[in-house]
Amino acid sequence: KEAKLWGGRFKEGVTDAVERFTESISFDKQLYKQDIKGSRAHASMLTHQGLISESDRDSIIEGLEEIERRIENGEFNWRADREDVHMNIEAALTDMIGEPAKKLHTARSRNDQVLTDFRLWCRDAIDGILVSMKQLQVSLLTLALRNEGLIVPGYTHLQRAQPVLLQHLLLAYVEEIERDAGRLVDCRARMNFCPLGACALAGTGLPIDRFMTSEALGFTAPLRNSIDAVSDRDFVLEFLSANAITAVHLSRLGEEWVLWASEEFGFITPSDSVSTGSSIMPQKKNPDPMELVRGKSARVIGDLVTLLTLCKGLPHAYNRDLQEDKEPVFDSVKTILGMLEVSAEFALNITFNRERIQKALPAGHLDATTLADYLVNKGVPFRTSHDIAGKSVALCTSKNCQLLDLSLDELRSINPVFEEDVYDFLGVENAIQKFVSYGSTGSACVASQIDYWMKKLEMK
Ligand code: ARG
Repeated sequence: KEAKLWGGRFKEGVTDAVERFTESISFDKQLYKQDIKGSRAHASMLTHQGLISESDRDSIIEGLEEIERRIENGEFNWRADREDVHMNIEAALTDMIGEPAKKLHTARSRNDQVLTDFRLWCRDAIDGILVSMKQLQVSLLTLALRNEGLIVPGYTHLQRAQPVLLQHLLLAYVEEIERDAGRLVDCRARMNFCPLGACALAGTGLPIDRFMTSEALGFTAPLRNSIDAVSDRDFVLEFLSANAITAVHLSRLGEEWVLWASEEFGFITPSDSVSTGSSIMPQKKNPDPMELVRGKSARVIGDLVTLLTLCKGLPHAYNRDLQEDKEPVFDSVKTILGMLEVSAEFALNITFNRERIQKALPAGHLDATTLADYLVNKGVPFRTSHDIAGKSVALCTSKNCQLLDLSLDELRSINPVFEEDVYDFLGVENAIQKFVSYGSTGSACVASQIDYWMKKLEMK
């Protein structure tokens, strides 16, 4: 068995069970790019500070380039007995270039190294998620543009409430995702500080320049406190929280589309390309991708809970428990990217069943609140208007008709304030025109918001 890089004081090697249990190479090899990037910056800084020679630096950097090439071509031999990505790369570099490689870990610990890698990795992951978020927003807006003018029932308590433009509802999702993106941008900015040079926890007596490595790696600045630098996982907690919120948004979207695709609603027909069938029921066509978007939100929430639980009892500074911080993050990122991608694809493969929706609109007295507003315009106090409109609805219920089917005499029998112009307020088409407040579902307001988003998403 090969001696461990840390093996100086040990007389015996670890058991196979311990080796299997403590390794992280099976998952942290994902950090190889960031690890190599960090080592290059570190080696250059060591040379600049006179800690290693230029020729040592050059062979280190050449060796790292070769290792990166091998990893990318699948030629690199990842070894569990070398524990993790950091020691795999360092040991392979030593195999390759000999003595100079042994100087690379000067003024560095795996504790600051792993966090440098991890912050770089999360930074890249955020940039990728932001791209996918924008693609989903563009898909939702595309769907909105294809369905201009379509009125759908708006619900509260899943009961018919008021008519809304479909575009208005779709833009609500776009707004949510915009805030989700904003959370990631904030998180990225707070995350973008460099732990490298904090070493194990206390810093170092060697004359390193942390500002130099921080800048070379694109960080805003080195972290101020070396203990904090190797202890902190709140950057991951924040990242996973942001992902969990996004996942909840996507899950609600999934739920809505699954409902709408049901025979009972029948508002949308997803295309075959985003549906799957049943192994026993020949007639079935299920909206599985959106069910799985709803389902996978559970994992993303779970990933956050795992990390919160992992961190809550840890004394400062590094504890090996923290090696468990990576898989939930990798899982959260992979899952959220999949959820965003499939939601965007689903959006582009939905047909709204206009006739079916049209037929559904008269049910549920969606114009009752507009009727109350009509009475307010006539000078009736709102509480009284509410009561009059409520009585009008009750009359409809007993006659099994809609508000616009009531005659003026019938309305006047409830309250004499009604006049002929009431019919301009009744029916969903009329009702939708009456919305004028900022942010409302009125056509003009929605049109200007569509315009806003098309510009913002560079769709025109
Ligand atoms: N693989 C370890 C992790 O991910 C690297 C840091 C190990 N540090 C140590 N002192 N054992 O946390």
